[in-house]
Amino acid sequence: MGGSALPWRWRLFERIVTTAVREAGPDIPVTVKMRKGIDPDHLTFVRAGRIAQEAGVAAVALHGRTAADMYSGTADWSAIGELAAALDVPVLGNGDIWEADDALRMVEQTGCAGVVVGRGCLGRPWLFADLAAAFDGRSERALPGLRAVAGVMRRHAELLSEHLGEQRGVTDFRKHVSWYLKGFRVGGDTRRALGMAAGLAELDDLLGTLDLDQPYPRSELGVPRGRSTGIRKVSLPDGWLASADCADAPFGAELDTSGG
Ligand SMILES: Cc1cc2nc3c(=O)[nH]c(=O)nc-3n(C[C@H](O)[C@H](O)[C@H](O)COP(=O)(O)O)c2cc1C
Repeated sequence: MGGSALPWRWRLFERIVTTAVREAGPDIPVTVKMRKGIDPDHLTFVRAGRIAQEAGVAAVALHGRTAADMYSGTADWSAIGELAAALDVPVLGNGDIWEADDALRMVEQTGCAGVVVGRGCLGRPWLFADLAAAFDGRSERALPGLRAVAGVMRRHAELLSEHLGEQRGVTDFRKHVSWYLKGFRVGGDTRRALGMAAGLAELDDLLGTLDLDQPYPRSELGVPRGRSTGIRKVSLPDGWLASADCADAPFGAELDTSGG
């Protein structure tokens, strides 16, 4: 909730961002990423954007939803346009970019300086090549068949293994399996086995059993992926909504239980 509840307590937000920029020094750019606010009655993005700009951040990214929205409905790109018009620092738009052409549309509609991609790249790291092509004015898009996707999966697991050690790396990789295979014809047993692979050799064996000649499942293009949830009640620290002008951190704020 750091990016949606914190800006409500704007003096505290100001303190944190100002300190971060100062401590980072002139050579390390600091960016802020936030949601529109807590809910429709507690929108904070314009004020928070101005505070961040004043604090000296290099860019501000906005996810066009409130905390209450969670991942429901569609992202409000008009809020991104409003923020881009209000600030001089680059505003990066975020929310519902599933394909490179969505990014072009967002930039065109909102005047944002760039985009931030979340769920759209789950199991599709080549989306960034598509984005580079699109912003370069090129129309080609990566449509990897299953053989190429399996190669990317192997490389992903290998890089995680280099980083975390093989056991932890492959375990961490498991959560990506269903995203990579979305839309491909792969049986439930094989999917389950891949989702429980214990090492690179087992992963290789299982990937080798797939029907690798399948083309990219075009039916998945432009389709939302990852989390999509309904509106929810936002949990806030006690008295949070009455404390907008308070500059103090709430009790227990050092607990690292935040997330996107
Ligand atoms: C797996 C995953 C992890 C995320 N982690 C973070 C995070 O650590 N910090 C953050 O600000 N947002 C995080 N997000 C939210 C995204 O950055 C993004 O704001 C949100 O998914 C909306 O963009 P999208 O429609 O492109 O998915 C995460 C999203 C996903 C799917």
